[in-house]
Amino acid sequence: MSIFQHPATPDIITLRERQFRLFLTPAQINEAILRLGREISDAYEEPPVLVVVLNGAFIFAADLVRTLHFPVQLHFTQLSSYHDEMTSSGTIRQTLPLSQTRLQGRHVLVVEDIVDSGLTLDWLHEHLKTAHRARSIRTACLLFKPTHFKGLFAPDFIGFEVPPRFVVGYGMDYANEGRELPGVYALAE
Ligand code: IMP
Repeated sequence: MSIFQHPATPDIITLRERQFRLFLTPAQINEAILRLGREISDAYEEPPVLVVVLNGAFIFAADLVRTLHFPVQLHFTQLSSYHDEMTSSGTIRQTLPLSQTRLQGRHVLVVEDIVDSGLTLDWLHEHLKTAHRARSIRTACLLFKPTHFKGLFAPDFIGFEVPPRFVVGYGMDYANEGRELPGVYALAE
């Protein structure tokens, strides 16, 4: 979906002395996002409000909104659970709140980069239900790692189901590096 020409996508990259291998090309990602755009547009009679989870979902959201067939209202929140760069601490902190937004009675579509354990999504679901009184909550994610999923709410719109490997690129980071990569890279085994 991107309007930019991507630079060459190398097969292997190194971040902080760790090697990552190309896992999803920009073309594969574009194709999945076009499909998601159609699925999401068909699923709603009344346009949902999008709640984008920063930082990881910023590129996914930017591409996804340009495929939707309805007028888009966007809000951003930032949640953090990763404390040692590759594994989740299990404790969610909301570092950018949604306090100024009116989500009451609205359909909400959460936009996430990855759903892994599902704990982040459970927290946000509860928050959108109780603090914001959203009418309905669904989730679109680029990647879903079902192996470790133990959440109450599985994502509704999924770009790719992937194995439980650590990934970077297309908005996702390793210790705040690698977000700008146009493809998704998986930690080399
Ligand atoms: P969960 O709460 O375990 O579902 O984790 C969700 C969040 O963890 C995502 O929004 C990402 O920010 C982060 N995350 C999970 N897996 C990865 C990964 O492989 N690479 C980068 N971030 C990840």
